[in-house]
Amino acid sequence: MTSRILVMPGDGVGPEICREAVRVLDVLAADHGLDIELDEALVGGAAIDVEGDPLPESSLAAAREADAVLFGAIGGPAWDNLERAKRPESGLLRLRSELGLFANLRPAILYPQLAHASALKPDVVSGLDIMIVRELTGGIYFGKPAGTGRTEAGLREAWNTMRYDEAEIERIGRTAFEIARARGHRLCSVDKANVLDVSQLWRDVMNELAGEYDDVELTHMYVDNAAMQLVRAPKQFDTVVTTNLFGDILSDAAAMLTGSIGMLPSASMDANGKGLYEPVHGSAPDIAGQGLANPLAVILSVAMMLRYTLDRGDLADKVEAAVGYALDRGLRTRDIMDDETQIASTQEMGGAIVDMLR
Ligand code: NAI
Ligand code: MG
Repeated sequence: MTSRILVMPGDGVGPEICREAVRVLDVLAADHGLDIELDEALVGGAAIDVEGDPLPESSLAAAREADAVLFGAIGGPAWDNLERAKRPESGLLRLRSELGLFANLRPAILYPQLAHASALKPDVVSGLDIMIVRELTGGIYFGKPAGTGRTEAGLREAWNTMRYDEAEIERIGRTAFEIARARGHRLCSVDKANVLDVSQLWRDVMNELAGEYDDVELTHMYVDNAAMQLVRAPKQFDTVVTTNLFGDILSDAAAMLTGSIGMLPSASMDANGKGLYEPVHGSAPDIAGQGLANPLAVILSVAMMLRYTLDRGDLADKVEAAVGYALDRGLRTRDIMDDETQIASTQEMGGAIVDMLR
């Protein structure tokens, strides 16, 4: 069956990196039997400039129709004077919530060729390959009641509520168990069950699910310890599952272990395997239009799309291997350059991946 992929390049470096990702998809379709149909839609600043709306109805409708969305990047000083709801970033937030994408997948992978980029010692991080699964639509960012007021004594006060029901925990748990099953068969659930009732429920539901996945080893860790372990010995982790708030913090920390923002892909998924795939980085207005942007984050996002939505893990492996070969050959965009390597442009890097796949 033909899968429909919607490409939403956005603005800044988004269009130039997405161009390389589309070349990768094209060669997979032409030479490796990938059955896809590509469409494109405006989002972010590019949509504001044309239609005055960061997520026009036609773009949202196209995203709903698609099996997967490949998203570039959005945002920048050109639109910073607009009110918050009209800025590029609100287009992405609205897209995620309209599509019901409750599972955020953030791998932290450090290619051995780039071990020097990490702030940690090479032997601690070289070959790192962690997957953090963050719940994205619940928890303290959305819990009610939330608000601000005054205490009886007249002091300003504010409150938010960390709340999950068992169905919300179960669906993110299932996503995480399935991912762990397809990776290293180890799942670490991160909570604060020694203090929070909501964490105890989280832990109970994860333990109940574990019965259905006896090929996956489930462990639990308190979030403060997890933060420590992530920096001390990150390679002990395989797949990690956690709440919205804890995942926000831990996934950024894990990403920075790799030290290379231009290399980090991500996915946000619904319960049916539909996903929005995007690089972790933003629109990098400081380098946009100069051929300096690293296209590997979005190309690795294509690999995630192949694995998690298109059911072509074989092609995902090929794309990731091609990235490894390109790095072996010394190809480097400016963000991952060192003294021994020469600078490659966005297009040269994309072209190298395409050549290897061909
Ligand atoms: P950024 O990720 O765009 O850039 C941070 C630094 O990393 C810059 O020095 C940039 O040149 C560099 N960088 C980013 N991607 C790169 C790549 N592919 N290759 C080489 N270097 C790269 O974050 P920043 O500067 O904080 O935000 C810029 C704009 O992007 C803002 O408007 C922000 O709101 C937006 N943004 C959008 C995101 C998205 O589209 N999902 C995520 C984060 C920020
Ligand atoms: Mg964050």
